[in-house]
Formats: sequence, structure tokens, C-alpha cells
Amino acid sequence: LRTLFIFSEIVPYSKTGGLADVGGALPLALAQIGVDVRVLVPYYGQPTLGDLRWRCAVTTPYTGEAAELWSLAEQPQILFLRYPHYYERDGSPYQDGEGGDWPDNDRRFALLNRVAVEIAQGRVPGFDWRPDILHANDWQTGLIPYLLDLETRVGAIRPATLFTIHNLAYQGRFAPSAMASLHLPDSDFHWLGTELHGDFSFMKAGLAYSDQLTTVSPTYAQEIQTNAFGMGLDGLLRTRNRQLSGILNGIDTRQWNPATDPHLPAHYSAQDRQGKAECKSQLQSSLGLYPDPGMFLLGMISRLVEQKGTDMVLDILPDLLRRGMQVVILGSGDKSFEQRLLEMAAAHPAQMAARITFDEGLSHRIEAGTDAFLMPSRFEPCGLNQMYSLHYGTLPIVHRTGGLADTVTDAEDFNHLEQRNGFVFTNPNSDALHDTVLRAEALFRQPILWSQLQDQAMTGDYSWQHSAHAYLRLYHEVLARRTGGR
Ligand code: ADP
Ligand code: GLC
Repeated sequence: LRTLFIFSEIVPYSKTGGLADVGGALPLALAQIGVDVRVLVPYYGQPTLGDLRWRCAVTTPYTGEAAELWSLAEQPQILFLRYPHYYERDGSPYQDGEGGDWPDNDRRFALLNRVAVEIAQGRVPGFDWRPDILHANDWQTGLIPYLLDLETRVGAIRPATLFTIHNLAYQGRFAPSAMASLHLPDSDFHWLGTELHGDFSFMKAGLAYSDQLTTVSPTYAQEIQTNAFGMGLDGLLRTRNRQLSGILNGIDTRQWNPATDPHLPAHYSAQDRQGKAECKSQLQSSLGLYPDPGMFLLGMISRLVEQKGTDMVLDILPDLLRRGMQVVILGSGDKSFEQRLLEMAAAHPAQMAARITFDEGLSHRIEAGTDAFLMPSRFEPCGLNQMYSLHYGTLPIVHRTGGLADTVTDAEDFNHLEQRNGFVFTNPNSDALHDTVLRAEALFRQPILWSQLQDQAMTGDYSWQHSAHAYLRLYHEVLARRTGGR
């Protein structure tokens, strides 16, 4: 079975969030169970060109000159799409340095989608490999199922398509006129086609035309079919519910393992957690926090946006600090959230640290060195940080939604702790979050019970193997459905 994955970001070469972690791990997990996998991503400047071994040219109607595919000599093969004018810019894959979307994002990602289709249809000279499945991810790849549908309208055979929703909130919306400039027929601009409330949407195209849809957790697959979580797409998703399922992400335990993590000052495991105390004390001293092992230390690593509940955390911080807790927050995003966090940290330097940056090493040290992890997201398609936290024995405090609901079980009433691994609240508001943090601190003061929860958290299975098998089963189902004409 041959699968071509398409991602707009991939660890370790580009990353703005969890999508890149999935890009770096899921294709490999599938390759390990025998799938012939290749991955197509834009080339944003990493790895250095000198390390790239192989290349070939691709022509499409979207660019005057040819784009190029480059690849490393690694497995699974990553095909970097090189078109410097589109992708090698200062800024993030989606935005300029000021935080504004690149004005030509429609053309930039349409090229990526077009090239995936050229590969799928065997039209790239010098690249003799055609997939059975195209596995697209998020809006940046949403045109692929649609472009392939257009191919079949002129009699071509096409591979099967699977579209994974990592976050329905980002919809790749553009003016309707963008369709004509991408040579797409206006006749598909309608409710069951590419139209989303008057805009042309890449996400909508993916949802409307893909053979199969998945989300990154089972709960999110249900939630997005409701008005509250559907972001204007729940109507369409309900019509597609027989082709919609959820497969939980895993975590890459080569990079996230407290027993071997090169970013940590000390190592530990579920059996021997002594090193975790050392990680806490080093984290406190490196951030200028009061070095007291008895202070309840909370961590948060996040895009600082409303989705992640940053405002709720800001609401309750003054009281947590007054009660003698410590907090470290790493992230960036909304400027006003950043500002308020910095001001609060400046006013309480022994208890609170805010680092407004992207720092991979610090993110690992926070996972290891804190006692509990704050993740009060209003919605969370899967979430990786709560799983990193569990694996590092740092108990997550989460809102019951999406992948958080599927991975964290609440230590309510201190009963049945042998089946619990964190703290969960149901209503996404500051009061509920506040109560839950206090509940967590109360348990932290009972070391035997806390340690029992840590055991439970650290011994859970969060590996990608489970997900990889679930995707493989789904690939076979989709292929069988197509050949069976169902
Ligand atoms: P999302 O993709 O919605 O942002 P996830 O929890 O799936 O949420 O993944 C976020 C990923 O990005 C995690 O690997 C997390 O550690 C990482 N991350 C987020 N912000 C930062 C930051 N400021 N520094 C380092 N890593 C970060
Ligand atoms: C998105 C979601 C996040 C998920 C990640 C990887 O960024 O917001 O919940 O974990 O994709 O699938």
C-alpha cells in the first residue's frame, strides 16, 4: 500500500504547532508497519540544500517557471517542494513577521496541492511512484481532493483521498475570485462544493470532496457535528458523518521521553522519579523562581490565543499567586495576552515566569520540571502537550473537550485513583478552572496519592503505533469501498 502524505509543516524542519509533530511522526509509524510512505512538504529553507541529495522539476499551470522536488536520503522519503518565491521568506509558513497572513496564501498552498496531484497522476518526469492513497492534512492541503475530483470529470482514474482535520477553526478562506485565478470552475462554488458563507474555502473543499474524513480524536469528530463546535461547517459534516471518524494522535517517544530527553538536567522514569525533583529545582532556579520544592509549580506551553483559554488563566493567576503557587508560561500569540502575562510575571518574579518565545528546549524542561500542567482549551482537536505532560508525570488540568477528554481522566473525590491521571472540568470558565487547580493542589499536598496518579499518568500508552494501525485499517476500508463502488 502506497500513501502520499501532504503537510504544510513537519518536525524537525518547520513547526508552528502540533500539526508539525504529527507530520514528523505518523508517516514514520506507518512506514514501520509496512506502508510505502512518502511525504510532500513545502521547503521553507530547512534542511540546508547541501544535505539534499535528489531533485526533479515539476511544471504546473500555477507558476511560470518549474517548481522542484528535493529529497534527503532518509526513510520515509520527504519530498521538499522548492519554489523560493513562495516559500523561502522571513516569517512563519503562514504569516509575515507582523502576524498578518501572507496575501498570496491561496496561490502558495494551491501550488503544494497541485504538485501532490501531479505526483498522484504520474505526471512528474523522473519520479516514478504513484500512491494508492493521498492523505491530506488541514486547510493548506484541502484542495487536493477537489483537484482530483476534477480529474475524474475528464475521465482520469485517481487514488483514494483521506483528509484529516487537525483544527477546523483555520479554514483557508479567500475571495470567491481566487477560484478563477486558480483555474477552478465557478460552477463548484456552492454549498456542497467549495463555498463557505460567501468565501472560497480550502477547508470546505477538503471536507466536501474527500473520500474519507478524520479528526485527531474521537470526541472532536462528534463535537464538530454540532453547532457549538462546527465553525459553520457542522451542517456539511453531518451529511458526511458516515465517512467521518476520529483517530487519536500519539506522541513521539523518541523525542519525548524523560528517561533519555537530552534537554533535561536529570532523567527519570515511572519506576524512579528522583530526577524529576532535580528538574523542578533547576527549572525554578533557571527562571529566577523561589527554589522551594514544596511550592506547587504549574506549567503552560501554548499558542496564546482564545482557543487555549489564555484569558481564563489570566483571570485566576492573581489568586493562585496569592495562595503561594508558582507558574511558568511559555508561548506567544495575542499581543494583549503576552503583555498581561509579562506584567504579572514582572510583579511576582519569585513566583511567576513568562517567556514569550518559541523554545523547544525550555518546553521539555517545563514538562519535566513542573508539578501540573494547565490546558484549559475551549476546544482542542487533540492536543499533544497534555500527553507529553502525562508521560512526564506532570498532571494535566484540562477542560473536558476533544482530545483532552479522550486522554485525561479526573481524579474526582480521590476515589478509584488507580484509574485516574489528572484533573478535568466541564464548563469552560475561570471559576471552574480555579476550583480545579485548587483541587489539584489539595492532592499535591498528599504525596502518596499524588504519586499514585503520577504512576498512572506515566504508564499510559501514548505511542503512535496504536494510531498507525487505526489509519492502516481505514486506508483498507476506503480502498475497498471505492473498488466495491460503495
Ligand atoms: P496546537 O497545535 O493547537 O498549537 P498541540 O498541543 O497539538 O496544539 O501542539 C502544540 C505543539 O507546539 C507542542 O509540541 C508544543 O510543545 C509546541 N509549542 C507550542 N508553543 C510553544 C513554544 N512557545 N515553545 C516551544 N514549543 C511550543
Ligand atoms: C492542531 C490542534 C491540536 C492537535 C494538532 C495536531 O493544531 O489544535 O489540538 O493536537 O493539530 O493534530
